Amino acid sequence: MYPTARRFPSRAEIAARAPSMWRYREWLPFEGTPTLSQDTGFTPLVDAPRLADKLGVAKLWIKNDAVSHPSLSFKDRVVASAINAAVALGLDTVGCASTGNLANAVAAQAARAGLPAWIFIPDNLEQAKVLGTAVYGPNLVRVRGHYDDVNRLCVQLADRFGWGIVNVNLRGYYGEGSKTMGFEIAEQLGWRLPTAVVVPMAGGSLLTKLHKAFGELRDAGLVSDEAPRLYGAQASGCSPITRLVESGGETIVPQVPNTIAKSIAIGNPADGVFAARAMRGTGGWSAAVSDESIIAAIRLLAETTGIFTETAGGATLAGALALAGQGRFGKDDD
Ligand SMILES: Cc1ncc(COP(=O)(O)O)c(C=O)c1O
Repeated sequence: MYPTARRFPSRAEIAARAPSMWRYREWLPFEGTPTLSQDTGFTPLVDAPRLADKLGVAKLWIKNDAVSHPSLSFKDRVVASAINAAVALGLDTVGCASTGNLANAVAAQAARAGLPAWIFIPDNLEQAKVLGTAVYGPNLVRVRGHYDDVNRLCVQLADRFGWGIVNVNLRGYYGEGSKTMGFEIAEQLGWRLPTAVVVPMAGGSLLTKLHKAFGELRDAGLVSDEAPRLYGAQASGCSPITRLVESGGETIVPQVPNTIAKSIAIGNPADGVFAARAMRGTGGWSAAVSDESIIAAIRLLAETTGIFTETAGGATLAGALALAGQGRFGKDDD
């Protein structure tokens, strides 16, 4: 997407830049510095020694995108990338199909960019999530059905009206934004990679793009470590990617979601096959966890780290605990 002749910055050049996802702009699909959503990214990497003890690993950190700007989830990264692409491409309306967090991010970032937004969500989302979208004043449409129904509708609408639907016809730009989480993890660890990463999965894009980001840093000579083992976490009530990893197959079997973890409840994940390949290819694995264990993990995360997340955070920690219980981490793991 970017010219192959692009010159990548050194560690020192990156360190001198503002603390946002745009400090890695040369790895993003833009010429020059995008102007919208300058405050997104560079969230804290929080040392969590008590959780490291529980998992029986050497070190454990939480990448805390629950304090992302402007809408408090990692979806701010993908929207910051997609909305700048929308403007560069001359699109005058943006939108998304969302399980909640993407809706909040698109609504907030479109509001301050002065762009009309059309946001489509399943009709069973949590009231707090719906409020976190509605407050920004987008056109908000609740669709009777699951995310996968909403997404199909958005594919048709994008074609018909020429809107920039961030996770549909702008998906190439959207996905690249996720890479910045991987760049930050490496920089915040002092330019090295951890040995393992546990990632919440909905469509499977974040996990796939972390893999890509770690590879790009190695290609640029900024890190020299092996690719981390990538592990996914899903709710058992919506775990098509985990099932694919377990089955060893190559085709997603869609699932009708039934879980409290609505923000990651995608039954037919667009990047599921690629995420499964990245997990298998790095020697990782994937976990599916019950709603009860998600609630317990939300509490455990809060009580041990002071970080209070919604269900995707609980699923991630519950998944890490389940994987530790399967003996997938060693005492030297970071
Ligand atoms: C907080 C949070 N984390 C992770 C994810 C997973 O995203 P992806 O669709 O890239 O797998 C989502 C998706 O909605 C999310 O809301």
